[in-house]
Amino acid sequence: MPRKIRSVFRCTECGFEHPKWAGRCDSCGAWNSLVEELASSSRRLSPATLTSSNDAEPVRLADIDQSAAPRVRSGLTEFDYVLGGGIVQGSVTIVGGEPGIGKSTLLLQCAALLEKQDVPVLYVSGEESAEQTRLRADRIGEEAGLVRLLPEVRVESIIARAELLGAKVVIVDSIQTTHSEDLEGAPGNVGQVRECAAKLMRFAKGSGAAVFLVGHVTRGGVIAGPKTLEHVVDTVLYFEGEPNNDFRILRAVKNRFGSVDEVGIFEMTAQGLRPVANPSAAFLSGRNPESTGSAVTALLEGTRPVLVEIQALASRTAYGTPQRVATGLDHRRLAVLLAVLERRAGLPFNDLDVFVNVTGGVRLIEPASDLAVVAALWSSVQNAPLPADVIFLGEVGLGGEVRPVSSVERRLTEAQRQGFSRGFISARTRALSGVQSVPIEHLGDLVRALAA
Ligand code: TYD
Ligand code: MG
Repeated sequence: MPRKIRSVFRCTECGFEHPKWAGRCDSCGAWNSLVEELASSSRRLSPATLTSSNDAEPVRLADIDQSAAPRVRSGLTEFDYVLGGGIVQGSVTIVGGEPGIGKSTLLLQCAALLEKQDVPVLYVSGEESAEQTRLRADRIGEEAGLVRLLPEVRVESIIARAELLGAKVVIVDSIQTTHSEDLEGAPGNVGQVRECAAKLMRFAKGSGAAVFLVGHVTRGGVIAGPKTLEHVVDTVLYFEGEPNNDFRILRAVKNRFGSVDEVGIFEMTAQGLRPVANPSAAFLSGRNPESTGSAVTALLEGTRPVLVEIQALASRTAYGTPQRVATGLDHRRLAVLLAVLERRAGLPFNDLDVFVNVTGGVRLIEPASDLAVVAALWSSVQNAPLPADVIFLGEVGLGGEVRPVSSVERRLTEAQRQGFSRGFISARTRALSGVQSVPIEHLGDLVRALAA
């Protein structure tokens, strides 16, 4: 039996230390807030012991080598882009996302591409059997056969293996299945997740290897494990998409080595993930401009403008309360826009079922797409297609006024690149770029411009 290192249970609310687990903190009374962690040693250092030991010394900022943080490019273009230009040595990155979204596929592809450039990679799988990983490797286009797989869940053993191999990149799939022998809790509980991440972090900083941690996050972000790590690690990436759609978006929500809010767009194919170089064209590819209820807007994904199609369908309610179904859009936002259309533009919806859909599995977060949603609804109710060459950009206020959106120039330039020639934009925006702008001050102007 290995000797157990003493662990304590600390309250995440007030920091009070308990020798045993309890359902309620003795100090602040919070429920279910105790997390296991290693007891800290109370070693004190005196100036005499400091000089002889290997403790770090303070350095002047000007003396620090600027060329530090060298990067390795994996060759998976969108992945490198989101990381800020490649994988930084000694960095720790979380790749979070719902189960089945493609995290393992993404990292295995990355591992294969790195191994092809003779960068030693260790792929640790605690979730799936070696056979399952082999099956995935056979599907992806890259030659993944060279990647070294370690079926292991103990973090101490993972680190020892990585050191032995001299791995430059270590992928831990997933952090929830990894556990440390120093703590008693089951794998996946907050204490274990934090301790394993801390150990891997020390390994990364000490050895210069880049560590990727896969973390499952359920819809609604229920699992606390990976969330509690976000402030510890260097980079946090989220992999998102709709399960019934092949487009996937990799989003950086924190990046100590690059800009946040950059996104990479992938498509899940039978041969693994493929970077999508021209997302606007991909998202608009299935569009039929002659159909009613279809409007195009430009979203900003990070700093990149991406065009998406918004579809609306209004049909007579057969019985009962009218339905409102929104996919890719907050249903409360839809309710607001319907109310504004009814009160400010005289378009009644009280006996109509309304369905709104954003193509490509994209989610509308910005209010900049309001005008396009409103135009699509108008088109469906009037049974008249919208002009095919128009892009809609504007936030709609409760008074029916149309407000300007940010980075309008960048969005219009992308629209022009995709062949659009007119932009319906807020009258309060200064006109710009090659696209002809049609100023819209109020929803009434929109209805008049469309009916003309
Ligand atoms: P996976 O990487 O296992 O997801 P995660 O690790 O996030 O749980 O991907 C699972 C899905 O991807 C699965 O439904 C099958 C699909 N897939 C493809 O469509 N093509 C492929 O080449 C691969 C490897 C997976
Ligand atoms: Mg997986």
